[in-house]
Amino acid sequence: MDNRIQRLREQFLENLQRANAAEAFEELRVQYLGKKGEITGLLKNMASIEPERRKEYGALVNQLKEEAENGIKKRMEEAHARELNARIAATERYDLTLPSMVRQGSYHPITLVQREVEQIFASMGFTIEDYDEIVDDYHCFEALNIPKHHPARDMQDTYYLSNGQLLKTHTSAAQNAIMKKYGAPLRAIFPGRCFRNESTDACHENTFFQMEGIMIDENISISNLIYFMKTMLSEVFQRDVKVRLRPGFFPFVEPGFELDISCLICGGEGCPSCKNSGWLELCPCGMIHPNVLKAGGIDTEKYTGFAFGLGLTRLAMMKYGIKDIRDLNSGNLKSLDQFVK
Ligand code: PHE
Repeated sequence: MDNRIQRLREQFLENLQRANAAEAFEELRVQYLGKKGEITGLLKNMASIEPERRKEYGALVNQLKEEAENGIKKRMEEAHARELNARIAATERYDLTLPSMVRQGSYHPITLVQREVEQIFASMGFTIEDYDEIVDDYHCFEALNIPKHHPARDMQDTYYLSNGQLLKTHTSAAQNAIMKKYGAPLRAIFPGRCFRNESTDACHENTFFQMEGIMIDENISISNLIYFMKTMLSEVFQRDVKVRLRPGFFPFVEPGFELDISCLICGGEGCPSCKNSGWLELCPCGMIHPNVLKAGGIDTEKYTGFAFGLGLTRLAMMKYGIKDIRDLNSGNLKSLDQFVK
């Protein structure tokens, strides 16, 4: 074989062996096979070869050209496969058995408490009802024995809408519709979001959750009310909770009470969450006023009933030791994420 061809071949093979990355292969291609490349140069050199050796020379150069082309292609493919394997091994391997890297969502603490209380009442024969957040004056007030201009309306700073409707200030707003829907006897709970134009602090929010409950039947008395409240609270807290009943005024119950529980955050000693009183108003309640039963189409000669308006938001705070009510509507995942269940 022509010495020049032989030398060039050896030099090329040596360079090819050393080349590793995509750019290096491209450089090699230009260096040997490009327009001004060394192998191309051998072909251009044909004219200076003695005529009788040209055929053999041409064949040898073409052979080398082909070898160089195939060699570069093969080494390039090998390098590409090596690179890919290394990448997969280092970073891009998926192990389906590993725990998910995507952050798992969690239920809001109020949802958790709501579901728990729903289950407890469902097990005692209560149905769970849904009701609107935008209601009219009749359902929120008048049907509840709170006529226009009654001072009791001042207790519930109401957001009125321009069309005369309002954001419900309490879940009691559903009482009338539910009485009309089912008649007596009746056991129902209805959780819901309520709105009041309150200035906010550690224990007040303008948007909060209540869970209303009503039970209407023959011979229902305050002792039934106390029994259901105590059962529910001891189930939720899984321990005996200290409660106290104080008289409370609500036009739609008679007699009416405030059911307080001993503050579980400070153990009753007094803290910002309980306004330093050691007690938290958790569940206003009472015997349903006959006017309210009548408005709901219930025969007041035959039936009596109790109603309660459990503060779901407060209950969630007590159960989970949440000190500031504003955390609940904050959307702050650092605090809300702790409730993955
Ligand atoms: N709806 C009353 C409130 O939010 C609470 C309540 C409900 C009181 C049922 C008595 C009976 O202020």
